[in-house]
Amino acid sequence: MRIGLLKEVGNTRCVALTPQDVAWLVAQKFQVYVQTGAGDTLHFSDIDYTHAGATLFKTNKQIIDTSDIIVGLHLKYSLQRSIKYLKPHHYVLGLLNPLHDDKFYKKLNKSKVTAFSPELIPRITRAQSMDVLSSIATLAGYQAVISAADLSTNILPMMMTAAGTLTPSKVLVMGAGVAGLQACATAKRLGAVVEAYDIRAATREQIISVGARPIILDIDNDSSEPQDHENQSDYAKEQSQDFVSQQQKALTEVLASKDIIITTASIPGKPAPKLITKSMLKKMKEDAIVIDLAAASGGNTDVTKVGETIEYGSVTIMGLDDVTAFKPMHSSQMLSSNLKHFIALLGVKKTASPDFTDDIIRETCICHKGKIISAQLQTQSSKKKEKETA
Ligand code: NAI
Repeated sequence: MRIGLLKEVGNTRCVALTPQDVAWLVAQKFQVYVQTGAGDTLHFSDIDYTHAGATLFKTNKQIIDTSDIIVGLHLKYSLQRSIKYLKPHHYVLGLLNPLHDDKFYKKLNKSKVTAFSPELIPRITRAQSMDVLSSIATLAGYQAVISAADLSTNILPMMMTAAGTLTPSKVLVMGAGVAGLQACATAKRLGAVVEAYDIRAATREQIISVGARPIILDIDNDSSEPQDHENQSDYAKEQSQDFVSQQQKALTEVLASKDIIITTASIPGKPAPKLITKSMLKKMKEDAIVIDLAAASGGNTDVTKVGETIEYGSVTIMGLDDVTAFKPMHSSQMLSSNLKHFIALLGVKKTASPDFTDDIIRETCICHKGKIISAQLQTQSSKKKEKETA
């Protein structure tokens, strides 16, 4: 299979395949074509890519014409002008954000290509090496704490100095999935007193294992069964308005004593649950910091603005977006490694149809020959239609 790596356009400093991973793919007998300057923003030179065994081309069109699988991170931008060159035999692989933006994948579907979005990769053990969402979420959890520490008027650890004792910051992490647990671990390493809250009871042991204390609200007690909050894939379910109101009420007191709150609560394919209302923000400590990682899917607070840091009263709320912009080298290393493993799963030999008997390939495939393949996207679009006709 011939792999074509496109140069990213726009603000991103990341690259979808590093020279090291290109060398790995070449060793697996893939042919790799790289657009000139693809690694410039990270100081990977064209020579690094040629040393890795790739052939360079100048334009998008040359890469597309020569390759079987077109690879990039933000293809919505890099393919903006060159989507017309795609042919039905092409595979396309990149972060297409299909659960939150259907416009671009619908365009790809019209050109009858086979498009894969690794954001749809199922979170199963066999797919761990390809799981881009876990990679980005891990970095996001870390970055959330670093950004909070930077914005806070206090330091995180307790410090006993000749000038007196400084008390440690109190951190609350809301949503203890991949990002949340990494946030707990990072805040703990920096010396904060860390607590975490999640509606899934299964997270409590994990919270303890990263050195934090799980918060259990009255509404989460024995009367609530795991199936009230989780679906069969162990993801959180959307909660009733009644539960949300009770949750907000119970959390108000917990929030009032915290210096830093990191919110990461999300439900796949749904808007982020509102955990912090305006009235809860008003009751928080002066100068408290909220880092909202769910900003891009609507935010966990009433006031979050994606990509912006705003003030509400004396509380600062950062709607942290696109963590890859903060740490482009490590983001690229992780994403590139995930993508190379997915490409290897597709196989060295290009076939007319991908192996849809493999659940990782089937669930990650958005469209093939003009049809939507991903069950998640099919369900999402039929629910949307139902809503429109209701
Ligand atoms: P995840 O699905 O592993 O974890 C989300 C957690 O939220 C789950 O444990 C779930 O049980 C919990 N949750 C859901 N509803 C809740 C509620 N009402 N109350 C309490 N907990 C609730 O997700 P992951 O991968 O950790 O990502 C977390 C968030 O961070 C997502 O919104 C994701 O889009 C975002 N993210 C942002 C990035 C950025 O660059 N800003 C990068 C990566 C992720």
